[in-house]
Amino acid sequence: MSFPADFLWGAATAAYQVEGAWNEDGKAPSIWDEFVRIPGKTFEGTTGDIAADHYHRYKEDVQLMAEMGLKSYRFSISWPRVLPEGDGAVNEQGIEFYSNLINELLTNDIIPFVTLYHWDLPQALQDEFGGWESRQCIDAFETFARLCFERFGDRVHHWITFNEPIIFQTFGYATEAHPPAKRDPFLLYQVSHYVNLAHARAVLAYREMGNKGEIGLTHVSQPCYAYTNSDEDKEATWWAESFGFHWYYDPILKGEYPAEYRKAIEAQYGKLDITDDDLSLLKSARSDFIGINYYQPARIAANNQQAERTADRESNTSAAGTPSFCGRYRTVLDTDQFEYTRWNWEICPDALHDAMKRIHARYGDIPIYITENGLGDEDLVVNDEILDEPRIDYIRRHLFACQQAIEEGIKLKGYYAWSWIDLLSWLNGYKKQYGFVYVDRDNKLKRIKKQSYL
Ligand code: BG6
Repeated sequence: MSFPADFLWGAATAAYQVEGAWNEDGKAPSIWDEFVRIPGKTFEGTTGDIAADHYHRYKEDVQLMAEMGLKSYRFSISWPRVLPEGDGAVNEQGIEFYSNLINELLTNDIIPFVTLYHWDLPQALQDEFGGWESRQCIDAFETFARLCFERFGDRVHHWITFNEPIIFQTFGYATEAHPPAKRDPFLLYQVSHYVNLAHARAVLAYREMGNKGEIGLTHVSQPCYAYTNSDEDKEATWWAESFGFHWYYDPILKGEYPAEYRKAIEAQYGKLDITDDDLSLLKSARSDFIGINYYQPARIAANNQQAERTADRESNTSAAGTPSFCGRYRTVLDTDQFEYTRWNWEICPDALHDAMKRIHARYGDIPIYITENGLGDEDLVVNDEILDEPRIDYIRRHLFACQQAIEEGIKLKGYYAWSWIDLLSWLNGYKKQYGFVYVDRDNKLKRIKKQSYL
């Protein structure tokens, strides 16, 4: 396979899933630190208290990255580690950790790609004004973003404001599966708008501060296909695609909301607080690139079984075969026709190619990074060796799809495997592994290189 010389080859993690040290050196709790303590919310009660202990072992981890030849590392900054109250005093010990990590990466010729928000909102902001339910959170996020640009912007030139808004918003506000665990679709849409504004404010702040790098946002990319040719399934697919694709990507890349869909949801849930000034702000802050996290497509059927999405963990692991939060459609699991992972996520590299084509068709020549893609599996261990052949195969097949897209003229600038190391899967604990590096949880979190690493 041949890729452009400046193509960024990387792997990714997120603070809560990898760092541990949840209450050390001045870090305050995030909404996840509190949520995982509610009985029944996570798989066997697992938490990120220790995670992969990257906070203490980052030097060893960066050495492993360097040895593997990783060109870039995507990680996120824990907001309550650097600003324990959300927007108050700076925790210099938290700043020091990220500063050291960045320096260590650069010393080893690894380019840092930083996500500001990978779901760990300071609990203080949730308590003070309901977190993302309030416009106050937009100001707080801008404060956080400016702090990061100021302290790290001299060395970090690639920034992602938010990771997968659709996930933390749907699970947080419509299905109760992530914090703050509410069930109120109106809030889901309102919060999505406030987050878009926070993104826009960070983009403008970044440019106004004279930074020289690029800034964008990462969305889930899950192309929807009607399961049958029936009118019902096609209509259901319109709802799924309007929500999962247009509702989320349009404001970031076009500065507007899809009109017909907005009308439909406002008729159902009530008028949203979206002002003309808000829309001008969105228009003025087009992202430099779009990050996409691709794992699987969705086969969509009308929800004629009238099934309801329940709040339990099992119904919210993104496996195929679940009703949507709004009840209008459901995803279909069809093991006769399609290939699936152990967690019932469809394996379909063609849909990754298609996802990029759809973005290109709707938004033009926007640069794209694949900021996550990978196989969640329970790896085979034989005589202390981790034989993750299925992961190698998965990644290889998806890279072919990337190559095809590049050949067709799509501006794909990088690929980040999820994940660099085995880490906490939010709702599946440590059982679902994605990494190139295995963490032996029975042996002091010892790192072992997997077959995919070697
Ligand atoms: C993405 C997230 O949704 O998918 C990651 O950005 C997450 O944080 C990954 O871990 C895989 O999801 P899961 O549920 O299999 O861990």
